Amino acid sequence: MKQVDLLYTGKAKSVYRTDDPEVYIMKFRDDITAFDGEKKDTLGGKGSYNAEVSSFFFRYLEENGIETHYLGSIEPATFAVRNLEMIPLEVIVRNVAAGSIVRKYPFKEGDRLDPPVIVIDYKSDAHHDPMLNDDLIYALDLVTPEELDQIKAMALTVNDVLSEYLDARGIILVDFKLEFGKYNGKIVVGDEISMDSMRLWDKETRASLDKDVYRFNKGDVMETYAGVAKRILSPPREESA
Ligand code: C5P
Repeated sequence: MKQVDLLYTGKAKSVYRTDDPEVYIMKFRDDITAFDGEKKDTLGGKGSYNAEVSSFFFRYLEENGIETHYLGSIEPATFAVRNLEMIPLEVIVRNVAAGSIVRKYPFKEGDRLDPPVIVIDYKSDAHHDPMLNDDLIYALDLVTPEELDQIKAMALTVNDVLSEYLDARGIILVDFKLEFGKYNGKIVVGDEISMDSMRLWDKETRASLDKDVYRFNKGDVMETYAGVAKRILSPPREESA
């Protein structure tokens, strides 16, 4: 399989076609952005940490029976994925109130959300990713009711699997964003699962271990990403095993 040409450049990733029309290559760049692209920087090594964590989580989800687009690692910041027909939804699962729902609704940061809350945004830079509801999703003809049920169920299963995995490593999965696509008519998890798309807190100190460190200047972003990647890729901690 050979890389052919650039298909798409996002804010932090580039996607390339290959000589196999079924396979794309996803390259995680060192670019980081926040606040709808208003804040941006390039941080050396960041792409590799996010690709490594994403690859690991996609493999882990597959081992747990959840289908993803992941095919295999190529280089530290690059992996091969299936060519999906992407669904323009950002499916956010929230276990603890933080970020935009604290700004928009009367939650206090740190409130436990049990059962978890699913929020779905319309993935559209032109419209600034507005929040959707089920009726809007059907009116926009984005997915059918059966597909939406399946997407929500898959998002909750991913939440269970990742929350348990991270908890054993002293990390709270506060919230995360998933994207889905179709492959041969089947819905699978696409895009990335990384420090850029999750909110992670240290269980003891509640310190941010994700892109909030960049968004709100909470510390050294690369030190945080390196540290949390190492924790994620390590065996469970003895005290919480
Ligand atoms: O900003 P907000 O609180 O809505 O984000 C919820 C979660 O979704 C966070 O983990 C954030 O990193 C992720 N997210 C994302 N891409 C977006 C919007 C949110 O990965 N475009």
